[in-house]
Amino acid sequence: MAFIPKLCHNSTMEQMLFYSTAHFAQDHFDYYIIKKIPLKKINFMDKPSMQTNKIEFPPGFLWGTATASHQVEGGNQNNNWHLWEQIPGKILHGQKSGLACDWWNGRWKEDLDRAAQAGQNAHRLSLEWSRIQPSPGIWDDKALQTYQEIIQGILDRGMKPLVTLHHFTDPIWFIERGGWEKPDAIDAFASYVKKAVSFLAPLVNFWCTINEPNVYVYCGYLGGEFPPGKKNSFLAFKVMENMVKAHAAAYKAIHAIQPNAKVGIALNYRDMKPARPDSWLDSLIAGFHSKTYNDAFPVALQKGKLKFLFQRSAIPQAKGTQDFLGINYYTCDLVAFDLFKPSALFGRHFYPPGVPLSENKFLASVPSSMKEALLWAKKFGVPLVVSENGIEDSQDTLRPFYTVQHIYEMGKSIQEGCPVQGYFHWSLVDNFEWERAWTQRFGLWDLDVQTQERRKRPTVDIYADICKKNAISEEIWKKFGDKS
Ligand code: FCB
Repeated sequence: MAFIPKLCHNSTMEQMLFYSTAHFAQDHFDYYIIKKIPLKKINFMDKPSMQTNKIEFPPGFLWGTATASHQVEGGNQNNNWHLWEQIPGKILHGQKSGLACDWWNGRWKEDLDRAAQAGQNAHRLSLEWSRIQPSPGIWDDKALQTYQEIIQGILDRGMKPLVTLHHFTDPIWFIERGGWEKPDAIDAFASYVKKAVSFLAPLVNFWCTINEPNVYVYCGYLGGEFPPGKKNSFLAFKVMENMVKAHAAAYKAIHAIQPNAKVGIALNYRDMKPARPDSWLDSLIAGFHSKTYNDAFPVALQKGKLKFLFQRSAIPQAKGTQDFLGINYYTCDLVAFDLFKPSALFGRHFYPPGVPLSENKFLASVPSSMKEALLWAKKFGVPLVVSENGIEDSQDTLRPFYTVQHIYEMGKSIQEGCPVQGYFHWSLVDNFEWERAWTQRFGLWDLDVQTQERRKRPTVDIYADICKKNAISEEIWKKFGDKS
């Protein structure tokens, strides 16, 4: 039965009493077990009564953070991003990923300790293909063992792992063979997936094949900010098509190894609204942009037909290859028709006026679009996960509000029937933010890149309260829900 989150303002007094009594009993039961104090010694009047929550989440809901190999591991020198970092002008201020968060030397342990102590019960990480398969036909068992150790570390800390197999980075040998532009990318990816999944299957059954294929295609083949920095819509279509086929092949390979696996992708969903809702041209162009950016990939996995830009392709083997859909939601755009922007498909994108913007104006905080994203995703008829959501904010001034309000809207979407099963905040600790490098700080923990010291930002405790209570309490809501 679908879980209905409870909104305090429409609860009856009777319900409120029931919930506060239930929490009471549960808390004192734990206390009794842990401290071994006879129950009769506990004064039930110590506890403040009538504690209520603004919104509650389904039992077993996953609360975690998300990271990606190249952004946290450090020392990745065998992939396309390493090459990109060496080209002057590609990365802001010429910064490099370097040691990143030094996870490959073992600092994952302290970061995952922090995550677990902060009440998180899940973690999303990615595997670095270029480490596991440094050249064609060569497998690095030591790299696989390191991932095994990290994933075991996640389990030992009481967290469920969600493992991404491709998060923007490709091995250099793969790129030299033409990368995703060439059809043999499909077999190459599937054989890497088989190797990694066979090795790690005893520990994981929750897999994300490809992170944000739409961002990979838009930034690598239309905008040019990501490697290979091309602007070619014909190739963009080819890459998207090959990624759909590679996902389908990986999906089948994973299920052959592990029949109970849950396999999906993480899609970057960007809410796009007509700038002038009464303008049919704005509505037309916003609708077209949204369909191209948001719908193309998951619709191909649902129906086996890819429609992207002005091209079409039948990919019947992809039909029905998603057990869940991950939604990476960050921001919302207004879209206006613009005759002078043919290269941008006649659309001008900008943020809604008056909404809070992130530190570098990279993102706009529009929490209601989180709910809209999930209501949109519901049409695919599979369980949903918020696989990323967060904001760049070194001073942690907007993050507390952004986080609480977006989680609240996710709760409202569950109330409206969206089968959301988990939330992964981006990110656990500041990490290498692609072409924006170290200028954007998305971590719950601040990182000093030189000393590798971590400092807790205030949002850590706010998010921990939500994770531990599996709810947004009235207290948290009063502080961060209503204003920003
Ligand atoms: C997403 C990426 C992730 C991170 C966040 C801020 O698009 O998946 O790696 O860069 O943006």
